[in-house]
Amino acid sequence: MKYKIALLPGDGIGPEVMDATVTVLKALEKKKPIEFEFNTYMVGDAEKKRSGTALPQATIDGVKAADACLFACVGETAKETILPLRQKFNLYANLRPAKAYPGVPAVKPETDLMIVRENTEGIYKMIGDRQPRSAFNVRVITWEASERIVRYAFEYAKANGKTKVTSVHKSNVLDYTDGLYLEASREVAKEYPDIEYQELIVDAAGMRLVMNPEMFQVVVTTNMFGDILSDVTAGLVGGLGMAPSGNVGDDICIFEPVHGSAPDIAGKGIANPAACILSAAMMLDWLKEEQAADMVEAAVLKVLEEGKVKTPDLGGKNKTTEFAEAVAKAL
Ligand code: NAI
Ligand code: MG
Repeated sequence: MKYKIALLPGDGIGPEVMDATVTVLKALEKKKPIEFEFNTYMVGDAEKKRSGTALPQATIDGVKAADACLFACVGETAKETILPLRQKFNLYANLRPAKAYPGVPAVKPETDLMIVRENTEGIYKMIGDRQPRSAFNVRVITWEASERIVRYAFEYAKANGKTKVTSVHKSNVLDYTDGLYLEASREVAKEYPDIEYQELIVDAAGMRLVMNPEMFQVVVTTNMFGDILSDVTAGLVGGLGMAPSGNVGDDICIFEPVHGSAPDIAGKGIANPAACILSAAMMLDWLKEEQAADMVEAAVLKVLEEGKVKTPDLGGKNKTTEFAEAVAKAL
C-alpha cells in the first residue's frame, strides 16, 4: 500500500523528532510492502512570524488531502494550530495510551492502558463570560458525542483484545451533563455484552489510576477529565519523551507526541524522539497496518530494553539521530 503522509514538524524540537521519525518510517519501507509519500507543511510560531498565520491554508489543505498526518509540536501557537485542526476536522477522539516501557524509569511499571478522551465538547467549548469579580464557563454535553466516544472506546477494546472498558464521570454532582453522558455510556455498553463495563467517579478514578493502574485497560471519559487523567497516567510511565497520542475522526487523523517544543533543549539534537516515533506507530495502526505498527513499537522497545542508546532525559548520552538509527536498525 502507498500512503500520503502530511508532516507538520512545527517549532523547537519538532523538526528534530520528525526527522528521526521519518528515518524509522523509511527503514520500515524496506521491511514491509508499504510506501510513504511524505509532504511537509508549515505550522507554528516561526511560520506565524514569517507569514502572519500559524496555520496556513496550504497546511489545512495538505492535512485534508493526506491519508494520515503527523504533527510534532509548536510553541506558543498551540491554540492557533492543533486546536483549530481538531475542530475543523472533527477529530472527536483523543487517544492517549500510557504504557511503561522497559529501561524507562516509571512510577508504576505495570501500567498499560488507553485513555479515550472526548475531544470536541465539554468545558472546552469556550462558552462563558467574565465580569470583574465573577466568571463562568458552560459545560456542553451531547448525546451524540457521548455515544460516539463510548462506542469508539468499545470498538477500540474489541479490535485490540481488551476485555474491559471503564467509563469515568461525575454524574453525582454534574447531574445534568454527566447524567446525560452516563446514560449514553450505558446504552452503548449494552451493545457489547462480551466486554466488561465499569463506571467510576472521576475523583476515585484519579486515585485508582495512581494506586492500581493494572485494574484499567480502556478508560473513556469527557474532555477535561480525559485531559487531566491522561497527564496523570503519562506521569506514571516516565513522562513526556515517552508519551504519544492521536486525534482521530471518522476519516481524518492527526497523531502527535504529547510534548511541546521544549525550547530548553531545542537545537541541541538531544530530544527523545520516542514519543513521536510511537505516535507514528499509532498512526500505522489507524491505517490498519497493524503489523507494521507492532514492528515499530517492538523496535523502540528493543532499543530501550538494551539500554545502550538513550537520550539524556532517560539518563543516557545519545543524540536524537542515534536513537532513531538504533530503532531503524532494530526493525
Ligand atoms: P514541553 O513539553 O515543551 O517541555 C517540558 C519539559 O519536558 C522540558 O524540560 C523539555 O525539555 C522536556 N521535554 C519535552 N519533550 C521532550 C523530549 N521529546 N525529549 C526530552 N525532553 C523533552 O512543555 P513546556 O516547556 O511547558 O512548553 C514549551 C512550549 O511548547 C510552549 O510554548 C508551549 O505552549 C508549547 N506546547 C505545545 C504543545 C503542542 O504543540 N501540542 C503541547 C505543550 C506545550
Ligand atoms: Mg493536556
